[in-house]
Amino acid sequence: MKNEIKIFSPATVANVSCGFDVLGFCLDTIGDEMIIRKTAKKGIVITKIEGFDLPLDPEKNVAGVSALAMIAHAQPDFGFEIEIYKKIKPGSGIGSSSASAAGSVFAINELLGRPYNKTQVTDFAMKGEALASGSEHADNLAPGIFGGFTLVRSTMPLEILQLPTPKDIYATIIHPQIEIKTSDARGILPKEFPLKDAITQWANLGSFVHALHTNDYDLLKRALQDVIIEPHRSRLIPHFAEVKAAALANGALGTSISGAGPSVFALSRGLENAKSVENAMRAVYAKTDIAFETHVSRINTEGIRVL
Ligand code: HSE
Repeated sequence: MKNEIKIFSPATVANVSCGFDVLGFCLDTIGDEMIIRKTAKKGIVITKIEGFDLPLDPEKNVAGVSALAMIAHAQPDFGFEIEIYKKIKPGSGIGSSSASAAGSVFAINELLGRPYNKTQVTDFAMKGEALASGSEHADNLAPGIFGGFTLVRSTMPLEILQLPTPKDIYATIIHPQIEIKTSDARGILPKEFPLKDAITQWANLGSFVHALHTNDYDLLKRALQDVIIEPHRSRLIPHFAEVKAAALANGALGTSISGAGPSVFALSRGLENAKSVENAMRAVYAKTDIAFETHVSRINTEGIRVL
């Protein structure tokens, strides 16, 4: 068995418009790197975090909390040290905390000889994710661990469905450099919604899943609508309406808030289209004084990978 492992833990997009808290997909061009090694001393230590200022105390760090949950169950007679090379900005809306929470337990599971399946790994990672967002949801964790598009049918007990990825789909992300806390973005949501909106939303979610299975891009486009969450959260994102209009005018299949924001994602058919959507989104923020960065990515069907 190996004593050390280096992994790439990718960024992810949760909600995907019509699937609040249940739908997600995995990106490929942005993610964190982590090195995890066995130590003679039992327990978890985080020895290094580069990129962003995050706590080294494992009980206050999402990667540490999920790792502690896994070793409390596995009871190995050795411990682990974790190095985190963070590239995904915390609070960006593309699964920064999930990448850390999932990365540590994915790697420890590998070093233990894979005693746990991917659903169990996700379950441990949820303990870390809860520290960051205040609630145990798995819509960022599942695509990172399973790859591709995923649907979380239930969190208790945890049940994750891997959905097919049509091969021409590309994602564009624009990340305005403002910070939105997931807990705040959840706090502004109403607790009850009109039945007619719920009907629209579950019709779209079912249609989206069907479209992935049948490679039906026209249906995918019609289904990428969010009448539940986006109307409330979009007011936290400056110029959201213009970015959305620009992406759609340039051929995006659909566009909405990535996770809790502030990043906005678009899905497009083909790399060229995804790049013109990127240019159109950039042009909106280029006219403002808000700094931003963009990413274009294929959908990563592998998820976290060993480097
Ligand atoms: N589904 C979650 C939300 C993802 O939108 O609040 C962010 O953690």
